[in-house]
Amino acid sequence: MSANRPAAVVVLAAGEGTRMKSATPKVLHELCGRSLVGHVLAASRELDPEQLVVVVGHEREKVAAHLSEVDAGARTAVQAEQNGTGHAVRIGLEALAPDGALDGTVVVVCGDTPLLTGETLTVLAATHTADGNAVTVLTADVPDATGYGRIVRDSGSGAVTAIVEHKDATEAQRALTEINSGVFAFDGRLLAEALTKVRTDNSQGEEYLTDVLGILRAAGHRVGACVAGDHREIAGINNRVQLAEARRILNDRLLERAMLGGVTVVDPAATFIDVTVTFDRDATVLPGTQLHGATHLGEGCVVGPNTRLTDTTVGAGARVDNAVAYEAEIGAQASVGPFAYLRPGTRLGLKSKIGTYVETKNASIGEGTKVPHLSYVGDATIGDFTNIGAASVFVNYDGEAKHHTTVGSHCKTGSDNMFVAPVTVGDGAYTAAGSVITKDVPAGSLAVARGQQRNIEGWVARKRPGSAAAKAAEATTREPGSEG
Ligand code: UD1
Ligand code: MG
Repeated sequence: MSANRPAAVVVLAAGEGTRMKSATPKVLHELCGRSLVGHVLAASRELDPEQLVVVVGHEREKVAAHLSEVDAGARTAVQAEQNGTGHAVRIGLEALAPDGALDGTVVVVCGDTPLLTGETLTVLAATHTADGNAVTVLTADVPDATGYGRIVRDSGSGAVTAIVEHKDATEAQRALTEINSGVFAFDGRLLAEALTKVRTDNSQGEEYLTDVLGILRAAGHRVGACVAGDHREIAGINNRVQLAEARRILNDRLLERAMLGGVTVVDPAATFIDVTVTFDRDATVLPGTQLHGATHLGEGCVVGPNTRLTDTTVGAGARVDNAVAYEAEIGAQASVGPFAYLRPGTRLGLKSKIGTYVETKNASIGEGTKVPHLSYVGDATIGDFTNIGAASVFVNYDGEAKHHTTVGSHCKTGSDNMFVAPVTVGDGAYTAAGSVITKDVPAGSLAVARGQQRNIEGWVARKRPGSAAAKAAEATTREPGSEG
């Protein structure tokens, strides 16, 4: 167990987030594949705390339901009325220990700072332990400190003496640019004791967590600060403009990591990825591409332009162009698109091809097999080295239930075929263009399932006399060289 392992992380997420103007609680808004609070939890988990509690209040049922999905180990504590950050921490701690006092380090973070990294939290916890502080506050120098609590330091020693909220600050204090991020490491016992002394005689009539610093200092304890390397990390999200800014910053960070790992991203400004996306080297992502969920890009594959992949794996050397895919597995050196839609359960074999205007669902496509044009392949298994003719439909739905179609290996099915499931086409079989295949086709046979063609000669001359069509037809039947 690491010496810096905190006894607990307390995540504050009880606030309403009025400025989001949303039916969704603020901390559940999404960026790069996680909720705001989901990002905070992921960063907090990097500290490997013994316990983790999220203080919920506003819309607590929705928030708690989400938490149980994304972090089953997280506990929740209910703050029915939002009486301030100090009050919230007190409630969180009481859920973990009857007297709210834990031995060891307690880290407090806010649920609306999705850019905060586990790395920064680790540095904070390590600084806190190494310096033997009662409290260590994560601070940052920001271009615009409006609204934030200001860090007040002793003019001689430079030691932190207090945090003054913007609303309670003097003009001189408002000129300070070092701000409180809202993230702290505390000694658990001293924190619990100090919280009992926090008062509400401030402009908001709230219990300020920040007052704990002054209380601890006055009692002769060490108060320290840890300055974040990048002030953007501590930005809290209050409205949708800030949400979009944070998304841009996080997206850039994720793409930078991918590029430094050997991925070519042709235009980072036009590429969007989730935190959960993984890559092998020499993958290339072309503009207009969105990669979501557990998507993985294999070595040397090329994805995009204008492609959206969700929970999809792309094999080494595959090519995916202008496509949308959900829960699909694209095999090595396979080719998809342009303009293809792969739905859940699609599995494409080595060097297979799904071409233009093709939709697949719950379909297994064998090695080297091609579905090149204008087709729907649903609930199907197709063997290796088979070619499906243009404009084919795997008719899987009888209005009540879905049925399966099996096409063997080395088949050549004609254009404009309907495979009315359940039906099986044996290995090496052919089907004629325009066929509606309702019966199984034995291996090696040719199935023809369409009306016989009948030509009614002279019909145009009789039924459409004098028309352009009739004249054109008459011209072709004239003897060569004869005069009209
Ligand atoms: C707080 C800090 C301020 C800091 C800023 C950083 C205090 C008194 N002030 O101000 O110094 O610069 O964060 O963003 O701590 N919350 C609860 N219960 C409450 C009140 C708040 O859970 O009763 C949660 C909120 O949901 C939010 C966090 O605590 O996640 C911070 O609260 P907020 O009201 O945003 O505090 P600020 O005024 O921004
Ligand atoms: Mg805030």
